Amino acid sequence: MAFVVTENCIKCKFTDCVDVCPVDCFHEGPNFLVIDPDECIDCTLCAPECPTNAIFAEDEVPEGQEAFIQLNADLAKQWPILTEVKPPLADADEWNGKEGKLDLLEK
Ligand code: SF4
Ligand code: F3S
Repeated sequence: MAFVVTENCIKCKFTDCVDVCPVDCFHEGPNFLVIDPDECIDCTLCAPECPTNAIFAEDEVPEGQEAFIQLNADLAKQWPILTEVKPPLADADEWNGKEGKLDLLEK
């Protein structure tokens, strides 16, 4: 099993999560982060750090967001690793909690 970044990270990308990951398994895209399921050791540290509550254990991903499990696995192979916290995206606070952000995911 692994932890999974879900929809509410899109257009926010606060990056607090990367600071606590002991195995550097976050990968960064233009407006979203994903977790490499092959590297994640299920330590649970990242989930409470996310200001948007976007990170869940794979078996606790909210209903309707199951597609993010495969998206994390696929995009982790394409995107570079991010290990240091950086400023969130512009208007991150405004986008926090908005629904229907999957269509806005930039790959
Ligand atoms: Fe990294 Fe632990 Fe989060 Fe997995 S659960 S992504 S190992 S901080
Ligand atoms: Fe995204 Fe939350 Fe990390 S918004 S970048 S999963 S801290």
